[in-house]
Amino acid sequence: MSLEDLIQLALDARRQAYCPYSNFQVGVALQNQLGQTAMGCNVENAAYGSTICAEANALGTAVAQGLSDITDLVIATSSGAAPCGNCRQLIAELAPNSTIHLVNLEGTPLSSHSIRELLPWAFTSLD
Ligand code: THU
Repeated sequence: MSLEDLIQLALDARRQAYCPYSNFQVGVALQNQLGQTAMGCNVENAAYGSTICAEANALGTAVAQGLSDITDLVIATSSGAAPCGNCRQLIAELAPNSTIHLVNLEGTPLSSHSIRELLPWAFTSLD
């Protein structure tokens, strides 16, 4: 699908966020080369460390749906925030060739990045 449509999916996912502790909603939508999509939002927990980031939910869903070769990953927040370090590590392994688009609530792409740019010299246990 078009980047515009994928951004709309990320904004839709963001509205599902369960974040009563931070009140910071994050929505993610991704697609692969076949145009297959997956979405995720952040899901918080009273035990704060049990919170699941939107990127982790979207990437986990992509794995469960059998998606590979992810080409685009949109992250929607009020501020156009970049992914946390843990999520960068997940992207490096599960969507290594994707373009990561940071968008705000207007759906404006503020910037686009490769994971090599966001996480240079990433850890890998693979030879
Ligand atoms: N969060 C994400 O969903 N993705 C990130 O990359 C960073 C942070 C969530 C976790 C928590 O629910 C809220 O944003 C504030 O940290």
